[in-house]
Amino acid sequence: MNTTPSVIIAQATHSHEAGIAAFLLRNDCDAVRRNFHPFPLNSTTAHEIVNAPRNEFFLVACSNETVVGIAMLRGRSQGYTIPSFGILVDHSARGRGVGRLLLRAALRSAATWDCAFVRLTVFEDNIVALHFYSTYGFAEHSRSTEATDWGPRVKIVMLRPTSLPIP
Ligand SMILES: CC(C)(COP(=O)(O)OP(=O)(O)OC[C@H]1O[C@@H](n2cnc3c(N)ncnc32)[C@H](O)[C@@H]1OP(=O)(O)O)[C@@H](O)C(=O)NCCC(=O)NCCS
Repeated sequence: MNTTPSVIIAQATHSHEAGIAAFLLRNDCDAVRRNFHPFPLNSTTAHEIVNAPRNEFFLVACSNETVVGIAMLRGRSQGYTIPSFGILVDHSARGRGVGRLLLRAALRSAATWDCAFVRLTVFEDNIVALHFYSTYGFAEHSRSTEATDWGPRVKIVMLRPTSLPIP
């Protein structure tokens, strides 16, 4: 696998709003929405991300000033004790380690919070993400079948103890 040493991971701030909006709009297609649908992929969402409450955590991956990925740990502002992880890497930047950088940075932050686990949901047929998460210590907690625009699909909830070392 190639690596992308020029990628910088940072917490999302107002200065990233236009870049996040462009990133979301570039990725607003069925192939992405099929696996990633926590929110609409548009400029309103970009505005909400950079104005999110402090306990909702958004990271951006930037390469040459272009946003090539985002990751999030959400749920604490709604009172959930276990934050939910989500991640999206630009199609053109995949397979170069951006996802790994974002996941590691999110896990490092979660390890400093007062939470025992990080959770996520992933569809069973999202093989790349499922494998990726497994290699970082996420384990299946439960599964259910969900009606989606692409027919019934199995959704898996995975948990990872924050006490696990980050590979
Ligand atoms: C899942 C996702 C975030 C991975 O991001 P990425 O930047 O491509 O991942 P990386 O290059 O950091 O690789 C991470 C791991 O993914 C796996 N991987 C990446 N691309 C792969 C591919 N094309 N085929 C198989 N495995 C692949 C590898 O296991 C790799 O780890 P390793 O080589 O160190 O063992 C990215 O594919 C994505 O954004 N997918 C669409 C959105 C999505 O499904 N999000 C998750 C919803 S739960």
